[in-house]
Amino acid sequence: MRTRNLVRRAGCVLAAVSCLSGQGESFGYHRQREAVDCWLYGLIAGGVAGLGMIPWRRMRRLARQKRELQQAVDEQTQDLQREKLLANQEKALVETQKQEIERLLRRAEEASRLKSQFLANVSHELRTPMNGVLGTIELVLKGDLSAEQREYLELMRESAESLLGLLNELLDFARVESGRFSLQLAPFSPREEIQFVVQSLGTKALEKGLYLESHVMDEVPRRILGDRQRFRQILLNLAGNAIKFTDRGTVSIGAEMGESELRVSVSDTGVGIASEQTASIFEAFYQVDGSHTRRHGGTGLGLAISKRLVETMGGAIGVQSRPGSGSRFWFTVPAQPASEPPMIGQPPQELPGLHGLRVLVAEDNIVNRKVLGALLKRHGAEAAFAENGREAIDLVAKQQFDVVLMDVQMPEIDGLEAVRLIRERERVSGGHVPVIALTAYAMAGDREKFLAAGMDAYLSKPYRAEDLIQLLAERGEAKRGTASA
Ligand SMILES: Nc1ncnc2c1ncn2[C@@H]1O[C@H](COP(=O)(O)OP(=O)(O)OP(=O)(O)O)[C@@H](O)[C@H]1O
Ligand SMILES: [Mg+2]
Repeated sequence: MRTRNLVRRAGCVLAAVSCLSGQGESFGYHRQREAVDCWLYGLIAGGVAGLGMIPWRRMRRLARQKRELQQAVDEQTQDLQREKLLANQEKALVETQKQEIERLLRRAEEASRLKSQFLANVSHELRTPMNGVLGTIELVLKGDLSAEQREYLELMRESAESLLGLLNELLDFARVESGRFSLQLAPFSPREEIQFVVQSLGTKALEKGLYLESHVMDEVPRRILGDRQRFRQILLNLAGNAIKFTDRGTVSIGAEMGESELRVSVSDTGVGIASEQTASIFEAFYQVDGSHTRRHGGTGLGLAISKRLVETMGGAIGVQSRPGSGSRFWFTVPAQPASEPPMIGQPPQELPGLHGLRVLVAEDNIVNRKVLGALLKRHGAEAAFAENGREAIDLVAKQQFDVVLMDVQMPEIDGLEAVRLIRERERVSGGHVPVIALTAYAMAGDREKFLAAGMDAYLSKPYRAEDLIQLLAERGEAKRGTASA
């Protein structure tokens, strides 16, 4: 508005100036022209003045906009700085939490490792004397006994074996829990395994008046690739449970083929399980009914181990059951048919003799030394004894042996160090005495560790006498063969 007034005033001033300059001339036509000129000049002058105002206004507007923009930018910058500060604080918090989680994870892993280690150690310590107990019973049973003495000893052996079973289960659980086990894949016959389980549990079923049967469908391959021992273990536990928790009726083992997996089931007509408990029974140490299970024994580990084994094999395990109407446990394992020639089912071999075989027994446990001494004597071998690794090294240096049986955990110098020193000396003196590790260490990876240390073979305690004799004969004969060659 102010600008427009200014323009108008400037126009009038210019018009007045031009009017005054036209004084003295005549009125009429000239007068009219002057008026028109006057307005025209006024208009032009006003326009020029107005045009001059435009950049000035624009500059003012730009300055104002610049101020506003600057203010907005300042505010935005402050907001951003605030947000950056918050983000930094959050980042620091996340970092602290991450470190805390990592610390807790490390502690949990350490605790789990210690637990597995503890279980492995306890089981090792218990297996060693158990070996002595079982070996001694075995020896006494071979002698002259009255019927009554034999019966008591048989009972004793049964208890010792079930105690050993429990120890093995604990060790196995520790092994499976810690992931320190690997599957041993080889072709095996599922039919033969089912037959084996039916035969081994047949007596128990018969004692309870149960009918134990098996049905294997025709389409089940003769041989599949898998871990035979673990397959048998799962089946033994399921069928053992079925017999344990069934008082009358039938226990039935079935096998059929799925699309690419073998489906095995164990059905019984026993006590059954309530639906809310069917998930929990696969957890470690869970047992449904304390009184019932106390009557039948067990630790509540069988199903937990079976589940982990089945899952490691790439299969699944489950149960359908109703209280009072029996249960049907099932599991699947991938079943790739295997074409390799049968490796089992060969006729049992005669036990070889060990006549004249010179065996050094390095063992700190006196009972185990005695048991081994008696066993070796019975098979015609000549035994010498060392109570620790140092004595073993000295004896090997002084005398000729065909084979050394080496315990691992011994005082002064342990079996691993002893064999290392023996091998070191042999590198200079020549020769090679076969050393068999005979130890209660039975965790996965132990065998490899012993072999890497210089042992030639490995047998875990408690061992079967036949296995030891067989191994001694193989190793001893090989040594005698090279010595005479
Ligand atoms: N066939 C079955 N019928 C009824 N209950 C069963 C059956 N199988 C398992 N159970 C229940 O599940 C629980 C866990 O079984 P699991 O095999 O893990 O342990 P367990 O047999 O008690 O002991 P372990 O197998 O360690 O010697 C059993 O205690 C029992 O309560
Ligand atoms: Mg069981």
